[in-house]
Amino acid sequence: MKILVTGGAGYIGSHTCVELLNKDYEIIVVDNFSNSKMESLNRVKEITNKDFKIYNVDMCDYENFEKIFINEKIDGVIHFAGLKAVGESVSIPLKYYQNNLISTLNLIEFMKKYNVNNLVFSSSATVYGDPEIIPIPETAKLNATNPYGRTKLMIEEILRDFCVANKDFNVALLRYFNPIGAHKSGKIGEDPNGIPNNLLPYISQVAVGKLKKLRVFGNDYDTVDGTGVRDYIHVVDLALGHIKAIEKLLTNPGLVTYNLGTGNGTSVLEMIKAFEKASGVKINYEIVDRRPGDIASCYADPTKAKSELNWEAKYNIDDMCIDTWNWQKNNPNGYN
Ligand code: NAD
Ligand code: UFG
Repeated sequence: MKILVTGGAGYIGSHTCVELLNKDYEIIVVDNFSNSKMESLNRVKEITNKDFKIYNVDMCDYENFEKIFINEKIDGVIHFAGLKAVGESVSIPLKYYQNNLISTLNLIEFMKKYNVNNLVFSSSATVYGDPEIIPIPETAKLNATNPYGRTKLMIEEILRDFCVANKDFNVALLRYFNPIGAHKSGKIGEDPNGIPNNLLPYISQVAVGKLKKLRVFGNDYDTVDGTGVRDYIHVVDLALGHIKAIEKLLTNPGLVTYNLGTGNGTSVLEMIKAFEKASGVKINYEIVDRRPGDIASCYADPTKAKSELNWEAKYNIDDMCIDTWNWQKNNPNGYN
């Protein structure tokens, strides 16, 4: 089976490429490298000892993107490509709407035209907004609270409409919780541009000495210790979830939706402790005001993915911290 991986050079995409190749899928990657480096794909080849074709193409570029469908016989698509920084999406919303929506509209237009009927889409727990029920089931109310989240919600709705009109089309909407960690080899991992927004890349850059101090955004939430609670999931578990989703699509289910999370919540202070244990490095931090837009707690009810995909997360927080640290200390400057 030949899978087109969009955004395959990125953090989750590169880890998924490794797992697909390990399972003998044939892959092709399209990426415009707006938030990634070619080096991540060189490392994927090194880890797996397998080769694959890479298209350096912007999916919003209609003509050049279509050429991939003309040249290749594709059986399914995993669509990771997109811009993902919440704060940036508030400052430059049009860029987010243009990039995330147009790339996806082009993709499904070509999938229909060239008869490619199976699509796995990277959605996000952000579509639940500030959740009313925790752990969050897939049936929870949807309510995005920023432009990035709204692109995810809009794409989910576009795909729902598309599936109603195209009965042969199968889509898995995968709502990820908080992916962290890295491949065991320490050769690929998360390599954010500039100062990281997310907790784990920030902690690991403090640990490696690139950043001075972590700011903990608020300790007055209604949580175990007052700091924000999230459902962190190992990126390799997440990658394996995509393979289960592809297998599911081959049974012609139409549109299906799954949370990919562990079902466990971890607070910021608990994460700092776990990272200190994994790295042996003391993390310098201070408590500051809440970050606007943050919620107190967010974790998944992952039972649907377990019963319908036969998938469940295997790695715990200690594993995630050990693997993040292994990547960070071996690559203090990421892929540079
Ligand atoms: P990433 O930025 O590392 O990877 C995305 C990739 O898409 C990058 O390599 C980027 O260059 C590429 N890309 C962006 N726009 C493109 C375009 N127009 N044409 C071609 N390539 C393009 O992000 P990631 O963390 O690997 O996330 C992958 C997907 O999962 C994204 O859609 C993201 O919104 C979603 N997601 C991520 C998280 C998270 O915390 N990392 C959580 C939930 C959902
Ligand atoms: N945090 C800090 N200091 C930091 C960074 C984060 O205290 O420097 C705290 C946050 O306040 C929050 C927790 O750590 O309580 C996690 O924050 P992240 O920024 O790592 O993750 P979020 O849950 O806020 O958001 C992430 C992605 C979103 C995605 C969401 C749900 O950034 O794109 O998970 O999947 F939508």
